[in-house]
Amino acid sequence: MTPQDGRTFWFRDAVVYQIWPASYKDSNNDGIGDIQGIISTLDYVASLGVNTIWLSPMYDSPQIDMGYDISDYQAVYPPYGTLSDMDELIRECHARGIKLILDLVINHTSDQHAWFQESKKDKTNPKRDWYIWRPAKYSATGERRPPNNWRGALNQSAWTWEEHTQEYYLHLFTPQQPDLNWANDECRHTLYRDAIEFWLKRGVNGFRVDTVNLYSKPEGLPDAPITDPNAEWQNGDSVFCNGPRMHEYLQEMGTIFARYDAMTVGELPSTPRVEDVLRYISASRNELSQVFQFDISALGRSPDDFYARSDFSLQQLKEVVERWQRFIEGTDAWPTVFLENHDLPRAISKYASDRPEDITASGKLLALMQVGLTGTLYIYQGQEIGMTNVPRSWGHDEYKDVIAINYYRDAAARGSKETLVKALDDINFHARDNARTPVQWTSAPHGGFSEDPATTPWMRTNDNYTSINVAAQEQDKSSVLAFYRHALAVRKKHDLLGKGEFRLVGREHEKLFMYIKLPQGSSEEEKGERAFVVLNFSSEMQTYTVPEEAGGEEANVVLDSSVDGKRGSLGPWEGRMYIYHT
Ligand code: GLC
Ligand code: CA
Repeated sequence: MTPQDGRTFWFRDAVVYQIWPASYKDSNNDGIGDIQGIISTLDYVASLGVNTIWLSPMYDSPQIDMGYDISDYQAVYPPYGTLSDMDELIRECHARGIKLILDLVINHTSDQHAWFQESKKDKTNPKRDWYIWRPAKYSATGERRPPNNWRGALNQSAWTWEEHTQEYYLHLFTPQQPDLNWANDECRHTLYRDAIEFWLKRGVNGFRVDTVNLYSKPEGLPDAPITDPNAEWQNGDSVFCNGPRMHEYLQEMGTIFARYDAMTVGELPSTPRVEDVLRYISASRNELSQVFQFDISALGRSPDDFYARSDFSLQQLKEVVERWQRFIEGTDAWPTVFLENHDLPRAISKYASDRPEDITASGKLLALMQVGLTGTLYIYQGQEIGMTNVPRSWGHDEYKDVIAINYYRDAAARGSKETLVKALDDINFHARDNARTPVQWTSAPHGGFSEDPATTPWMRTNDNYTSINVAAQEQDKSSVLAFYRHALAVRKKHDLLGKGEFRLVGREHEKLFMYIKLPQGSSEEEKGERAFVVLNFSSEMQTYTVPEEAGGEEANVVLDSSVDGKRGSLGPWEGRMYIYHT
């Protein structure tokens, strides 16, 4: 650690609430969430006990990928508001002691960005080299082929042919998201100035850094290994993630972030090895404050097919949590704790049970699991009231995400009725749309998403808004919302919850997830505070005993999501937390 460089490491105390603007709150009745809508709810956000907001992209964008395709880093998407709304949001957050971080999407821009428009004009354009252009290859029979076999986000080639200049450009996501050429110094330094410092100077406190390990492309852009022999395009994660100059770029950025004491949380897909993850977040290297490592989200997902569903066990969940809790022991790095974001299904539906009678218990169970874990804690909008995946009965046309739409279209092209039913099953379980339905504020039509309930939102509200909504839970002491507030207050009071050391208990138990927390840096034998968390991940009653090293019968219950509060047993999806001083 180098404290002299001005970094205070404030993010280690952050509890972050993610806001996805399109679906958060509509203040002007056009059916689309907006910045004034966010401002109008800041007291609510503060009341949860969070102290930081991560705002997903609000930049100007043609919205092919919901704002992750930016056409101007210094302008706001007009339906969301204006730069002066953003200045007001920054001020209003700070007035409540809330820090604000933005999404930083700099692996690619929109194809509508002025830079790409220039770049595609001709091969001698000064911006030509800001993107990744390559000539075609030709097959033995003279057929035009892309420069390599990489697959893009839509199950198609990651290259698109551009007629005018007769070359392909690279896009790891949709064709409307061309990858920037980070090897071009001018391009990279312009990003630092226009996309990063522009906002830090306006007062934002940091960034969630999109697809943070893709900027540096491998020399020669080699083919990906063939992992799916039946497919034309191959998953290239193993060749294009964590490229050769990644850490050089991040250290350049790190000096800027340090100047502003900004926090950064990098999105780090396809990086399974602890030593690779640590290289991004070791404090002494001054790159990123922390990352999202996605082993937990990969549970239940087949690695080669974004939506194909596979089963996973509680043991696997426990082991993933244990691994990404303990990997920082003895290092200067810091972890994250998250279950949801705008790319993932709702946690209740994935990890617990979204049967109507289980939702409240499941929401509290997952809250309990998370508040005891070490790291910066992230809560995604609606998670605090127990929002769930959309009903399976929805037709495919209710899904608005480009990936879901394409997935269904591909299945339709393959044909049979069974394929389509299965495609919709998979989409329903995994779709990013599950997280993107409007926040359920009240029991008014469409969940009170717009000020005027007659307004139809841009995306359908989950049908369960009549029973699951903020207004109802504000009145109910036994609600998921009330539980989150209480749980976050308990977390704040006991340092060992957010900062201690994690020990898994009862590894083999098939229904209970149990863990102990010790103060950071202490050993099992030392005296001090202990926490014990026991979570019933099943729909049957379970019994347990509090381990002696966590106080046994003398430990005090500090959080209890059970209905009957009976020590030693838990009903379906219930959990409990104990604290003890040895
Ligand atoms: C990240 C974002 C995702 C987006 C992609 C391309 O994974 O979280 O929403 O589609 O990057 O920018
Ligand atoms: Ca609006």
